[in-house]
Amino acid sequence: MIEPKAFVEKAVAKLRSVEGRAVAAVSGGIDSTTAAILAYRALRERLTPVMIDTGFMRKGEVNSVSTALRPLIPIRVIDARKDFISQLYGKSDAEEKRKTFRELFYRKLGEVVKEVGATHLVQGTIAADWVETAGGIKTQHNVLLQLGLDPKELYGFSVVEPLVELYKDEVRAVARYLGVPEELVRRQPFPGPGLLVRVLGTISEEKLELCREANYLTENYLADLNFSQYFAVVFEAEGELRDGVKFYRVRATGVKGDNRVYGKIVSIGWNHKDLESVRQLVMKLSAGDVTHVMIKVAEGKGKYAIGIRAVTTDDFMTADFAKIPEERLMELGEALASIPQVGEVLYDVTSKPPATIELE
Ligand code: XMP
Repeated sequence: MIEPKAFVEKAVAKLRSVEGRAVAAVSGGIDSTTAAILAYRALRERLTPVMIDTGFMRKGEVNSVSTALRPLIPIRVIDARKDFISQLYGKSDAEEKRKTFRELFYRKLGEVVKEVGATHLVQGTIAADWVETAGGIKTQHNVLLQLGLDPKELYGFSVVEPLVELYKDEVRAVARYLGVPEELVRRQPFPGPGLLVRVLGTISEEKLELCREANYLTENYLADLNFSQYFAVVFEAEGELRDGVKFYRVRATGVKGDNRVYGKIVSIGWNHKDLESVRQLVMKLSAGDVTHVMIKVAEGKGKYAIGIRAVTTDDFMTADFAKIPEERLMELGEALASIPQVGEVLYDVTSKPPATIELE
């Protein structure tokens, strides 16, 4: 564990050596917020902190985050929803979606960099991001240098990553030291590409809006349980039943050894709620090509499945699925199933490995 005071002094001194102007990309997550505050300490009016509204943020998030950050940094919101939506609707391959998102995201930042006459981009990449990308587990949207991409050539700026050696709990310690309000420090992580990675399969407006609503309900219902991360995903409920196990068409990511794999999502009936039998079933299925096992919690009349995902973890490199109390799970299931487009509500009971935390 690093010593926050010494870390901050060193990081600020290093950031001061950045010449000219810089732009900081802030999502409202603790990593990018901490990186931007450090940079603001070092550069003051030479820094332009921006939040890009991609259209894939959670309900009300752009407003609430920018309001919470204004006392700390002079954040500017850039509305890029049209660009993201027009390029991403209709796309279905998970890696292609991530890559398209990354390209649009950095192109947009490149425009801001040019507009304010900057040369550098400050971002909150942390160790876990590049460790997992380098391991081939997934292409994190914010990893450029480590993938051999040259941001200067591609987008016209050099990247500065003051937190690149830190893990999440260290970032939180630094944030507290910097006086970031506790509600931001404790915020659960939200992936850079946002709800994009929570709409499985083809992106459409209907699925995205359903995903936003399902995430809103799920976060509100589970907030007081203090899990490390909890959210909802949306996918088509079509699938095929084999020996009491439903295999869905859409695929989801998992990890095997050091590699990221695409596997099947399956669901089983509520009679499997005994955790030991679930554990054995997950082991058996994940030996094949299943990456996420879910239990059916509630049924509705629509065509989409909602997967409730909640995990506990220290470092996000491995994670246990969270044991949501049965009553709470049922209540949330019924609330989600009452949305007209929802056909089934499922509860993901897979740990990482063999699953990933997100499903894409
Ligand atoms: P996985 O799904 O790989 O997630 O087990 C580990 C942690 O990383 C977050 N995550 C991302 N964060 N950009 C980010 O900034 C991304 O592209 C991205 N993908 C996953 C995920 O929410 C979890 O906390």
